[in-house]
Amino acid sequence: MVENNLSSASIISNLGTHFIGQRVIYYPSLTSTMEVAKQEAQLGAVEGTVIIADEQTAGRGRIKRVWLSPKGSVALSIILYPSVVNLPSLIMLASLAVVHSIEAVTGLKPQVKWPNDVLVNDKKVCGILIESSVRGNIVDYAIIGIGVNVNLRLSGFPEIQSTATSLSAELGRDAPRLRIIRQLLVEVERLYLALQAGGSIYEEWQDNLVTLGRRVRVKSGKTIYEGVAESVTKDGSLLLRHSNGNLSKIVAGDATLRD
Ligand code: BTN
Repeated sequence: MVENNLSSASIISNLGTHFIGQRVIYYPSLTSTMEVAKQEAQLGAVEGTVIIADEQTAGRGRIKRVWLSPKGSVALSIILYPSVVNLPSLIMLASLAVVHSIEAVTGLKPQVKWPNDVLVNDKKVCGILIESSVRGNIVDYAIIGIGVNVNLRLSGFPEIQSTATSLSAELGRDAPRLRIIRQLLVEVERLYLALQAGGSIYEEWQDNLVTLGRRVRVKSGKTIYEGVAESVTKDGSLLLRHSNGNLSKIVAGDATLRD
C-alpha cells in the first residue's frame, strides 16, 4: 500500500531543504492554493512557504481555465521573492522540477510542452501557473502553482480523457504522492538556488521540450499561429516557423501538438 496521507509534518520531516517547504500549510480541502498563497505572500510569509491541499474546489489554470484537482492529485503553491531578472525563469524552473521529481520517483520519462505543461506519453500530467505582483523592478512576490495528476482515475473525468493522463494511469498502479511532493520541493530549491547563483536553466529546459521540431498550433490571446516549433529564446519565448518561411516569436500562449 502506497503511503499517501498528507500533513504538514509528513512533508517537512527530514526534507533536507533550507527554505522551500520548511513551512507548509496543509488543507484537506480548499478553493485554490493560489488564493491562500496570495494572502500569505501579501502578509510577508517566509520565502519557500508551501500551501498544499488534498483537494481544490475552485482550482484555477492558465488563461482563466478551471483546473480539476480532486483527492489523489497534488495541488500546491510555493511563495518566492525572486529578483525581477529571474522571474521569467520560474516557468522553466517549475516544469523542470516536476520532470525531475516524477522521473526520480516513478521512473516515467516526462517532457515539457511549451511553455510549461508536463506530459507523459504526449498527454498532460501536470499544469503550472505562475502569478506574481511586480512594481517596476521590484517583485513583491511570485507564486508557483503546481497541479499534478497523481492518482487520478480518468474514467471519472471524460472531459479531459483525450488530452490528460495521470501517473497512476501510466504506471498501472498508485504512485507515491508524498514522495513526489517532497522530491518536488527539493528540486525547486536546487534549481532556484542555481538560478540565484547566476546559473542558467534555459539549456536544460530546452533539452526537455517535447515541442521543438513538432508541428504546433499556438493560441496567444486572440491570435492563432501554426507552424513548426523551431526553438526557444532565453526569455522562454517560442520561435515558430510558418510554411511560408516566416518566423514568429511568441511570448506566451497555449500550444497543441499537431503531429
Ligand atoms: C494550467 O495548466 O492551466 C495550470 C494549472 C495549475 C494548477 C495548480 S494546482 C495548484 C495551484 N492552485 C490552483 O488553483 N492552480 C494551481
